[in-house]
Amino acid sequence: MCGIIGVVGSSDTLDTLLEGLTRLEYRGYDSAGVALVRQGQTWRARTAEGTESVSALKEECKKAPRGFTSGIGHTRWATHGAPEAVNAHPHLDCSGHVAIIHNGIIENHAEIRAELEARGHLFSSRTDSEVLAHLVEEARGGGAELMEAVRVSLLTVRGAFAVAAMDATEPDVIVAARRISPLVVGTAPGVTYLASDIPAILDRATAFYAVNDDEIVRMGPEGFRAIDLEGAPVRLKQLTIDWDLETAEKGGFDDFMSKEIAEQPDAIRATLLDRRRKDGTITFDELRVSDDELRDVKRVVLVAAGTSHHAALVAKYAIERWARLGVDVDIASEYRYRDPIVEVGTLVIGVSQSGETIDTIQAAREARRRGARVVAISNIVDSSLARESDAVIYTRAGLEVSVASTKAFVAQVAALELLALRLAQLRQTLSPSDVDALFLGLSHVSAQVAQVLARGADVDDVAKQLLGARDFFFLGRHVGFPTALEGALKLKELSYLHAEGYPAGELKHGPLALIEPGVVVVAVATDPAMHEKLLSNLAEVKARGATVVAVATDDDEKIEAVADYVLRVPVTEPMFTPMIDIVPLQLFAYAMARGLGKNVDRPRNLAKTVTVE
Ligand code: M6R
Repeated sequence: MCGIIGVVGSSDTLDTLLEGLTRLEYRGYDSAGVALVRQGQTWRARTAEGTESVSALKEECKKAPRGFTSGIGHTRWATHGAPEAVNAHPHLDCSGHVAIIHNGIIENHAEIRAELEARGHLFSSRTDSEVLAHLVEEARGGGAELMEAVRVSLLTVRGAFAVAAMDATEPDVIVAARRISPLVVGTAPGVTYLASDIPAILDRATAFYAVNDDEIVRMGPEGFRAIDLEGAPVRLKQLTIDWDLETAEKGGFDDFMSKEIAEQPDAIRATLLDRRRKDGTITFDELRVSDDELRDVKRVVLVAAGTSHHAALVAKYAIERWARLGVDVDIASEYRYRDPIVEVGTLVIGVSQSGETIDTIQAAREARRRGARVVAISNIVDSSLARESDAVIYTRAGLEVSVASTKAFVAQVAALELLALRLAQLRQTLSPSDVDALFLGLSHVSAQVAQVLARGADVDDVAKQLLGARDFFFLGRHVGFPTALEGALKLKELSYLHAEGYPAGELKHGPLALIEPGVVVVAVATDPAMHEKLLSNLAEVKARGATVVAVATDDDEKIEAVADYVLRVPVTEPMFTPMIDIVPLQLFAYAMARGLGKNVDRPRNLAKTVTVE
């Protein structure tokens, strides 16, 4: 999740780039860089100072020669290659004339790089992105103009990209293109801009245009033209932007939470990108634990807090089912103080969006002190948890601003289920065709989440009917149980209503006594294996006067008999349902909180990152 910006035809190129990068810092801040290009000359500056990268870049740029009218800038969120200056963008080709910036992941970078190196190209970074500079260089060497060179280069790559390229031998031109990663073009008289996000150029451009997947744009001071990957001309759609800067930072949404809920398909898709080799092997570039070590794991312990704890609970079901390994899940703040047993072969997985939650860091420290190998699942590159662990798998949800965690949860579940599949591969507890089928199913989840988001109005209607309710029980079985816990957490933290998550089968062991008219029971009822039993549980609460809301699959014909309201979701492999079923529950919590006039981004008494015990 990097931020990109470019400008051509400007009298204050550097200020435009640096101001834009300041506004894009939330997309990534492990390093930053700019390249200025004019006839025969490229000037580049890059810094890797963590959150201070853009400030350090501003200092570096005081040394820039004057008079450049075109340039590109980048703020990085590392995926391939450590967060160091050498891996910061822009990247140059061998001649130093071609400069590129890239947001996304080039999935086949390793093969392309090997081929380019065999043809004599010299690489200076460990990034996947640098291949683009050398591909463009080759195409330019064959006589192609920059736009054609970028087009030809993109035919070779798989994955996600918003890319911008310049060449000092064709100055005052930027060529940009996108697939999956966001990209907009802006214009003002005599100047053309590009950015990953509108806020970066909001106060500079006067008109904005959306670039769609597989479209390539050639920008000059006079404006732009666009083609598709086959070279056919396309028209970019003009966007109506009547936002102020604050609204723009929220991408046009009313608040960060609704923006982040909407970003969930991308969060899942990005987390899965580049995780499966051609031969079917699930792979994590950044995981520094050898296959032998993973094969020798005897027991897994997951430690986490809050929403991350719920994602960890889902992982228990996946690892046990697929990899046939015993799994314990611990609340991080409990693990550390209960004198935990760490036997040889224990793999501890610390799950944390921020990677800065003190309870999770302390639990991971305690586990390492007792001899466990610790893997971090973190959304923030180089977070404290990532640095202190033996290895890390990054979720790629992008910066989560809202205190209530949403997109981080679905990305964590995706990453943990991938890890479960890798363990199953190594332990040969699933056949290669089973792993392939599950990976394929996982790849469809992002589109299914988008389908559920499109049904948001149904959730709003239900929330309106239930605005007066004060007590909620969220029930589920199997992975529906952690989903229920997460749904209840969302409702309580956002709306300050009493909400409890329970395994549906446990209700009759006590909490059933609380069920009476006025109580709302929200059931996660999507698992076919558990369906009959869950229907009985719902009949029990209904008989005692509860109002029942059920999350049920599109093909469920029996649910209407026991539910007052049904929120429909598409059918998927049961293990993947938490990523889909949580969406209506997030939307429900959001709608309830808004209906009750609460601040959804900043609930009372809570902090985004809890750094005290
Ligand atoms: O950054 P972490 O994932 O470690 O944070 C853990 C919890 O503090 C966090 O998930 C919290 O529960 C959220 N407010 C839930 O929405």
